[in-house]
Amino acid sequence: MRDEEHGVIYCDDNIQRLALLPRESVDLIYLDPPFFSNRHYEVIWGDEAEIRSFEDRWEGGIQVYVSWMRERVLEMHRVLKNTGSFYLHCDWHAVHYLKQMCDEVFGEQHFQNEVIWYYRGAGVSPRRWARRHDNILFYSKDKEWTFNVDPVREEYAQATKERFKHYIGNVRGDQDFGLQTLNPKGKHPDDVWEISIVAPSARDRLGYPTQKPEELMRRIILASSNPGDLVLDPFAGCGTTLVVAHEQGRRWIGIDISPTAVNLMRRRMGKVGATNVRLVNMPTTEPQLRSLKPFEFQNWVIQRFNGTYSPRKSGDMGIDGRSFFNHFPIQVKQSEHVGRNVVDNFETAVERDGREQGYIVAFSFTRGAYEEAARAKAQGKVAIELVTVADLLQTGPPDLVTAQLITDLPLPKARESAARPSVDELVASDRQAGKRA
Ligand SMILES: C[S@@+](CC[C@H](N)C(=O)[O-])C[C@H]1O[C@@H](n2cnc3c(N)ncnc32)[C@H](O)[C@@H]1O
Repeated sequence: MRDEEHGVIYCDDNIQRLALLPRESVDLIYLDPPFFSNRHYEVIWGDEAEIRSFEDRWEGGIQVYVSWMRERVLEMHRVLKNTGSFYLHCDWHAVHYLKQMCDEVFGEQHFQNEVIWYYRGAGVSPRRWARRHDNILFYSKDKEWTFNVDPVREEYAQATKERFKHYIGNVRGDQDFGLQTLNPKGKHPDDVWEISIVAPSARDRLGYPTQKPEELMRRIILASSNPGDLVLDPFAGCGTTLVVAHEQGRRWIGIDISPTAVNLMRRRMGKVGATNVRLVNMPTTEPQLRSLKPFEFQNWVIQRFNGTYSPRKSGDMGIDGRSFFNHFPIQVKQSEHVGRNVVDNFETAVERDGREQGYIVAFSFTRGAYEEAARAKAQGKVAIELVTVADLLQTGPPDLVTAQLITDLPLPKARESAARPSVDELVASDRQAGKRA
């Protein structure tokens, strides 16, 4: 693997990106794909990237989902070194189907473990046992693979320690295997891991429904790779694998289809000292931003302001988000020649909101819009600042020009569930963008 091919986050459908990665170049792959469920879909990023895949994948049921996964797992098998390891994170919806598919791809003799990640939580059905675990399928590619048990050993249970304070012999038949002792480095972990889900108060909790705990990734990375090895996460989400790989001195590559996710990962990596992360295939020019789907564009603007999202049905007359420092309302228009009436309406919204200032972001504004904004300001009414996408690209958001000097800006949290678009809204907006294209 060439040097420029690690420390990279690709904003792509992983099927396309994996096909471009060299064969037998990766030491460890961990993947946490969107789970299969034909009744329930959790909006993670509130962008259309996920809905496009959602529509393709779920409509045909489990067989379609498994073949969607199979073509990707085949590519992952190709890029994995012969000494490499593969961990597929899933749950009860699809684990049996995915196990069968992975047995075919890797060979069932290369199946090593089904790790059960057990967590505590609330919410039970009165009709069955509480569902409290995920499944992680672990395969090696071939007969030799890395497995470092020492860094992940656990403390022995108190009862075991007590028992071993006394002489424990081991005589089987007429053979005496001598005195039994505990390993001073700790217990060899088994395949059931109890690790808390990312607690609401945790330092690294960003509020995304699928965010995995760093502790889970630490175990996998420490046991199944060595310092300097290359770790790949092809469904990287908010970047937990990459953060832990980086902290443990591994090289890493992430892939995610969502620009919102990739932006977040870049920032999260910066927080752990990975400052020269390369992003590939991110929208960075006006034409690319113009062709983003509406919610993705809205995410891009709000993230650019380091702002917060407004609840989606609050009757707040087009306040899409709020700026970082002053919580000034932001309205996002993915259009050209935004005119006087938009500014006029937004003035009313900002006034009702009790703020003295607001921002409208668009590709361009008419002269009438600038005149209206100037008139309102001159009359001592609210100040509406008209921000073009070109301004945002060149100088960053007005509210953040000074903030950019502050390196410790908080990471963008997930949208509150009330601020996440529904599946139907995302699908409708995806179609609308399709018509426009
Ligand atoms: C369950 S989340 C991963 C969460 C991650 N383990 C973490 O701790 O943040 C799945 C991710 O896969 C991404 N995704 C879905 N389909 C994809 C595809 N075809 N290619 C790349 N990424 C995809 C989604 O955008 C989402 O971020």
